[in-house]
Amino acid sequence: MKRVHALEVEDLSWFPTWLRTCLTNNLVVFARLLGVNAVLGQLVVDALKEAKLTKIIDLGSGSGGPLPEIHKTISGQKGLEHIKLELSDKYPNPKAIAFFNQSTDTNIHYREQPVDATQLGTVGPGLKTMVNCFHHMRPPQARAILKSAVENKEPILIYEMGGHVTLPLPLWLLGLPIGFTFVFIIGMITSALVRPFTWKHLMFTYVLPVIPFFFAWDGQASMARLYRDADLDELLSGLESSDYNWEKGYGRVKRGSRLGTYLLGLPK
Ligand SMILES: C[S@@+](CC[C@H](N)C(=O)[O-])C[C@H]1O[C@@H](n2cnc3c(N)ncnc32)[C@H](O)[C@@H]1O
Repeated sequence: MKRVHALEVEDLSWFPTWLRTCLTNNLVVFARLLGVNAVLGQLVVDALKEAKLTKIIDLGSGSGGPLPEIHKTISGQKGLEHIKLELSDKYPNPKAIAFFNQSTDTNIHYREQPVDATQLGTVGPGLKTMVNCFHHMRPPQARAILKSAVENKEPILIYEMGGHVTLPLPLWLLGLPIGFTFVFIIGMITSALVRPFTWKHLMFTYVLPVIPFFFAWDGQASMARLYRDADLDELLSGLESSDYNWEKGYGRVKRGSRLGTYLLGLPK
């Protein structure tokens, strides 16, 4: 397997919750700016319709990720009006919990207890989604998730918004200073667009730029961690089944170019 499990600060249990929240807030903005919501939204709708499901259980939701906005859009569509969305994380985000669980939209709920994506079989029925989260799993955990999906006939949609960027590892290493600087600047831009606005977020972006620094760090590390096509084939090897179907591909924006990669597993 070519991926490298580079260190992401988000994975450290002692990493401050407020800073983790800031990073995932920036990620929500970045995904929206890239157009992930429309691309992923279509994949979610297709999966829900094909598997005839009425609930989405998102794993590794962070600050919510793209799914709450997607939910808003799809629940306006005929036949999808009553779709429920359950958000969850190994490190549940207190601000997101307060925001979603106190909202008037009772179709969205954030689980207050930690939910570990590696315990897929325990999370309950519905379409499991992992958005920008699967690369946090080491290969044995990633394989265990896919195996559990097949064995328990669990529908699962895995999406990685950086998956379409394919850089061989040596090139990635060579380009690190440029890549880091680029994502650092994105961190500065996205910080300005995070809502609700907080002084802490602005201070740790523009006075002491801790947020863009870690945003760039984790962004670069995640590019090394992503499971590329061949890595996914390796993970899926032996998991073919006559009553379960795997499909993988690229997310596509309207004009056809690639945005992210997905792996969809559905029971037949
Ligand atoms: C890069 S963030 C993505 C957040 C969100 N899905 C998004 O797209 O904005 C990855 C998230 O995965 C969570 N995570 C890491 N390992 C996990 C695990 N084993 N089970 C559940 N969540 C996990 C982290 O806490 C973090 O919130």
